[in-house]
Amino acid sequence: MKTIILNASPRKTWNTAKLLKSAAKGAKDAGAEVEYIDLYDLTFTGCRGCLLCKRKGVERCHCYWKDDLSPIIDKIFHANTLLIGTAIYLGRPTSRYFELIERLHFCSLSYDDYSNYFTGKVNVGMFVSMNASKEFYDRLYKEKFEGYAKELEMLNGEVELYPCFDTLQVLDYSKFNMGSFDETKKKEVHEKNFPKDLENAYQMGKKLSQKSSD
Ligand SMILES: Cc1cc2nc3c(=O)[nH]c(=O)nc-3n(C[C@H](O)[C@H](O)[C@H](O)COP(=O)(O)O)c2cc1C
Repeated sequence: MKTIILNASPRKTWNTAKLLKSAAKGAKDAGAEVEYIDLYDLTFTGCRGCLLCKRKGVERCHCYWKDDLSPIIDKIFHANTLLIGTAIYLGRPTSRYFELIERLHFCSLSYDDYSNYFTGKVNVGMFVSMNASKEFYDRLYKEKFEGYAKELEMLNGEVELYPCFDTLQVLDYSKFNMGSFDETKKKEVHEKNFPKDLENAYQMGKKLSQKSSD
């Protein structure tokens, strides 16, 4: 039972990473073999349009571009569970997230009839961290992010989306021009909610890793 964890946020010790590390503990407790990867440590781009994945007679669900991402794509297709996290940047997942998804999705897409070449099953947990409140998310982001999560149904498993609201972006707001945030309120919300988010991430990592063995 393998769980691959991908951090598509550049900060390796902050909110998204903390959620993913908690989910990793859950996956380990479910008995999964866990691999955690910071995507920003790797060198890669989005799809280069080489179309080698569409050549006749080649192995499907494999990205042929030679860089750090292609082995990760192989690992995703051979895992039981994928736990992926991104911060929200300007209302969207990060650019790294999109670079990954472009290549993962395209190499499993048939250009004969737009069916899915992938016949395996990988459960997915998608963690999204943001400055926005739940109210703002529900109004402006929810539908879009449910759409990004839905795209991961190409892996044929269960897909769960976990939005984490109102994150602490810096430790000391007084050092920055970030006047639209009330530091006291941010810290209060963080202290109240973030431990619950970590616990929920743990349970989600555990459940999705367990389910893959059912
Ligand atoms: C370039 C950039 C753009 C951002 N855009 C948004 C945004 O549109 N909406 C939002 O709610 N938060 C936005 N944020 C805040 C981050 O999503 C939030 O702080 C997140 O929890 C950061 O994740 P991290 O701690 O893992 O780095 C942005 C942050 C950066 C650096």
